[in-house]
Amino acid sequence: MMKYAVEVEDLTVTYNNIVALEDVNLRLYDGEFLAVMGPNGAGKTTLLRAILGMVKPVKGKIKVYGYNVFIEEEKVKHLIGYVPQKVTLSKAVRLTVEEVVLMGVLARKIPPRIPSERDVSTAMEALKIVGLEELWDRDFLELSGGQQRRVLIARALVSKPKLLLLDEPLTGIDVRSQAEIAAFLHELNRKHRVSILMVTHDINPVAEYVDRVALLFKKIHAIGKPEEVLREDVLSKVYGGRIRVFSYGRVCFAIIGDVHR
Ligand SMILES: Nc1ncnc2c1ncn2[C@@H]1O[C@H](COP(=O)(O)OP(=O)(O)OP(=O)(O)O)[C@@H](O)[C@H]1O
Ligand SMILES: [Mg+2]
Repeated sequence: MMKYAVEVEDLTVTYNNIVALEDVNLRLYDGEFLAVMGPNGAGKTTLLRAILGMVKPVKGKIKVYGYNVFIEEEKVKHLIGYVPQKVTLSKAVRLTVEEVVLMGVLARKIPPRIPSERDVSTAMEALKIVGLEELWDRDFLELSGGQQRRVLIARALVSKPKLLLLDEPLTGIDVRSQAEIAAFLHELNRKHRVSILMVTHDINPVAEYVDRVALLFKKIHAIGKPEEVLREDVLSKVYGGRIRVFSYGRVCFAIIGDVHR
């Protein structure tokens, strides 16, 4: 049994000599649900892209289940499901929900990429997990934002990843959809044993479900259980004085004012 799903060691990433991540050290345990929170420009997307081997660091090592992501790319690819922050689906090509989910299986095949019956049933299973199987023949672009987000999560789940990387999966959707998606991510983590690394600027919808929270702004400023990190004295390191935390038992809410930095 591998102890860590992700090991990030001394990671530094720059874009045109501007530092996006500096000496980041982070470990995700196998089976853990970790949220990385930070404001706009904190380097959250960069961190995920580095774990996927898509951004080359100037310094540091990254392993996924023991495999070096920059050397053993093929092995790593099969272990990870990725839900990007922005989807680039052409509006010119109308795709059904089923076709969008199938993209997750077909991307792993050699051309010509023709789905087998088994691929179709795998896609339907993934849609069932996110609770959208009855929408399989609908036009993807006609779905609500929350439904589209679930479809994209289904697309990432189709290859049965051991690790799910999510980039702002709850942004831009209503509070009810946020709560539903947060709850099924929790179930995916607990029941299906998928390790989850989610980056978000808003921790509140998942605060009650995550094992740990990391606070990122170029560096990891804090990491620990939600009640250890979701504290005004800790969050103010990154958000300054414009932060208030309210807690009800184990559940914390962080209210972040307009933060310009
Ligand atoms: N391709 C790129 N070329 C140049 N600079 C980039 C590139 N991608 C990101 N950056 C810069 O690196 C920093 C970190 O960006 P990143 O997208 O990782 O932040 P983020 O935490 O995901 O932000 P957001 O909450 O807005 O999604 C920002 O200052 C950004 O402008
Ligand atoms: Mg981002």
